[in-house]
Amino acid sequence: MRVIENFDYNWLFGRYGLQADGSKIEEPAAVQDVSFNDSCWKQLDLPHDWAVEGPFRTDLEGFTGKLPWRGIGWYRKHFKVDKTDIGKRFYLDFDGAMAHAEVWLNGKKVGGHPYGYTSFRVDLTPQLSFEGENVVAVRLNTENIGSRWYPGAGIYRHVRLVKTSPVHVDHWGVFVTTPSISDVEAEALVHVQVRNHLSVPVKGHYSVSVYELYADNQTGRKVASSSHVRLDLPANATAQDSVSLRILSPKRWSLEATNRYLARVKVYDGKYLVDTYEVPFGFRTIQFTHDNGFLLNGKRVQIQGTCNHHDLGALGTAINMVALERQLKILKSFGCNALRTSHNIPAPELLELADKMGFLVMDEAFDCWREGKQSGDYGSLFDEWHEKDLKALVCRDRNHPSVILWSTGNEVSEQYHPELGIARHLTEVVHRYDKTRPVTFGASYPSKSAMNGTELQVDVHGMNYAAGVYGGPDFYGEFLNKEGHEHLSGFSSESSSTMSSRGEYFPRKFHVSSYDLNEPGWGGLPDQEFAALDRYPAICGEFVWTGFDYLGEPTPFNSDKTVLLNHAAAVSKEELKKQEEELKKIEQNRPTSRSSYFGIVDLAGFPKDRYYLYQSRWRPDYPMVHILPHWNWEDKNGKNVPVFVYSSGDEVELFLNDRSLGKKFKQPYEYRFRWDSVCYESGELKAIAYKDGKKWAEKHVRTTGKPVKLKLTPDKTVLKSDGEDLIFVRVSILDADGNEVPTAEPVITSSVSGPGVIVATDNGDPTCLIPFHEPERPAFNGLYLAIVKARKGSEGKLRLRVEADGLGKEEIVFQIQNEGLEKRYLLTD
Ligand code: GAL
Repeated sequence: MRVIENFDYNWLFGRYGLQADGSKIEEPAAVQDVSFNDSCWKQLDLPHDWAVEGPFRTDLEGFTGKLPWRGIGWYRKHFKVDKTDIGKRFYLDFDGAMAHAEVWLNGKKVGGHPYGYTSFRVDLTPQLSFEGENVVAVRLNTENIGSRWYPGAGIYRHVRLVKTSPVHVDHWGVFVTTPSISDVEAEALVHVQVRNHLSVPVKGHYSVSVYELYADNQTGRKVASSSHVRLDLPANATAQDSVSLRILSPKRWSLEATNRYLARVKVYDGKYLVDTYEVPFGFRTIQFTHDNGFLLNGKRVQIQGTCNHHDLGALGTAINMVALERQLKILKSFGCNALRTSHNIPAPELLELADKMGFLVMDEAFDCWREGKQSGDYGSLFDEWHEKDLKALVCRDRNHPSVILWSTGNEVSEQYHPELGIARHLTEVVHRYDKTRPVTFGASYPSKSAMNGTELQVDVHGMNYAAGVYGGPDFYGEFLNKEGHEHLSGFSSESSSTMSSRGEYFPRKFHVSSYDLNEPGWGGLPDQEFAALDRYPAICGEFVWTGFDYLGEPTPFNSDKTVLLNHAAAVSKEELKKQEEELKKIEQNRPTSRSSYFGIVDLAGFPKDRYYLYQSRWRPDYPMVHILPHWNWEDKNGKNVPVFVYSSGDEVELFLNDRSLGKKFKQPYEYRFRWDSVCYESGELKAIAYKDGKKWAEKHVRTTGKPVKLKLTPDKTVLKSDGEDLIFVRVSILDADGNEVPTAEPVITSSVSGPGVIVATDNGDPTCLIPFHEPERPAFNGLYLAIVKARKGSEGKLRLRVEADGLGKEEIVFQIQNEGLEKRYLLTD
């Protein structure tokens, strides 16, 4: 029978080649051999990102986060297997390893995978010893890879040991489709591929049962079961078949009710049950329409999406379910309902959370095709690997109801060359493994790729930065109305790219103002996209660049040509030259920025003002009003300080020290209430919002007094010691009346006593080069974040103490709960 074991713990790690400080250590020979002496290597648990500890180095590229991720990393793990398992198959499943993974067992190469974002399996069976110890060795090499963002480095996702009988469901071998769904009944068509590792043929069979599946992954009622399906398995080969099940009164999966089911497949070798394999799935229909946007279960749902890179801020790229769930909760809180996994295959946890929390997913494979954007990027792997990588992506993720679109790429140069047919070829590769979802890619020159025919090689037109295209008079209409285009539909695969630093309004050096009126040449403001979508409701919605700030690409302070390169093919020579000149000027100023400014939320997870602008549009029924900026402008007495208000109401009245500054109504195609000239005086700004003439929401901001103390706001107080759980503690600074001081930037130190650690701290400042694991850093515009973890398997209490000069100290005690180690294996492989 199948046993899936966590294989994350007790690895040894050695780093060679480029070191964190820029020096080099020669890689020794035969590190893969059992006899290699690894006794002084560092012991650690996976997932592991070897570069996030830094240090940040000003000589390193801003676009990959100024972190020393280039190097050669070796991981070794010594383990034993039980003699009672002789005869079984043993696999290691890697959810992803950055990058160019090569895997050995007991000195013999057993597999690997170059693209760091792909999940892959290696078969350990032939090399496995049941006598003594086994040594698995993994070599990763990031020295020559190219990336336009921080890629991370290391075995940064989970690893599982999968033990099966010789006859078992193949890797990603079950695919459930739902050909018909009504309120009365639905069909689940379960496709099963079984592998026979025996050197004799097997006359086997399988059966499938379907259960209700709860959010905690427990199964409920059985709702259907199949009879036995015969499967003749040739020796050392696979065989496959499908079985159809009828489910009465199916509960559909939707964004509001994330009903899921579980298909349990049982495989028999003729006599005995030899494998059980479980796959969660859901019943929902999706349609991208020509005239009416995107339909989920027949109803129009506006895609209110964000693009995100895969890092988890101060935690780097090492996947952590708790940190990812926190990100998704924050996205949900401002109404985001869709995620684009820009521009790579995500961790499987993202799909699991999206299914459970109710997000739509645009599941993306690559940032480029054959024509790379940088040396060592996917362009160098494309020819040999794209079919295997697409297969891995689709076969792994195709049972998730959240996935509504496959994306084969982003801003690829091949969009200008339809004659190459690469878009068509990739679409066909994807449809080999899943015909139930459309294929798209993010076009950086959407009008061109539409008119030159490239878009006819994909199913749905993904348009990057296209508000001017479909919002304007009427290019997109022309494209849609063209003969032969009647079936096409489109959406904004990337929008906005507005830049800002949280809490900065008259920005300091290397910061961008949070009035949110700054976008790069190719981008736009949120308002422009909203207006375009309002004018052209046939478009399915947008994916904003980005939900969160991320490590790397600190446009406009890139100090390199990354972003420029990305668009080089689309702009004129003169424009390119002009932009290069500007970049040179920026370079001379040596910006220290290591993370982006694009986020609606900053790197630490604190909302920027833009969060409320999106919330006002994306959650129209949620009564809210938000005022910016803060009201601490001692140096601006009598001077103009513009005030913006974001509200889901349709009318706002603003008061300064109880004097009305007038009422404003939301005008068509306007999304902010703006008082562009307000003569500053200290005191209180108050906004009262109305909707349909009735009071809807009220908010004030006050000039605060001096900082006097710290305030700790944890996101929970009970911490599991399962090796994964985290508590995120927001630290703010209060005045004597208990108001948060938005400008305070004291140096804050945190420490813990008890069985736990401070894993990282942050403040959301893209220019801060203090390594994330340092517990001491200044607050940035009034906020600081500490991330706390309990020691694996511990019990008792963990005390967090946070202090700053002149502000005293604050403490908080967390209860540690020991419920065993987090298994973190998925229901399926
Ligand atoms: C886009 C690109 C993204 C990111 C963004 C920054 O053109 O697709 O990956 O670079 O620009 O604005």
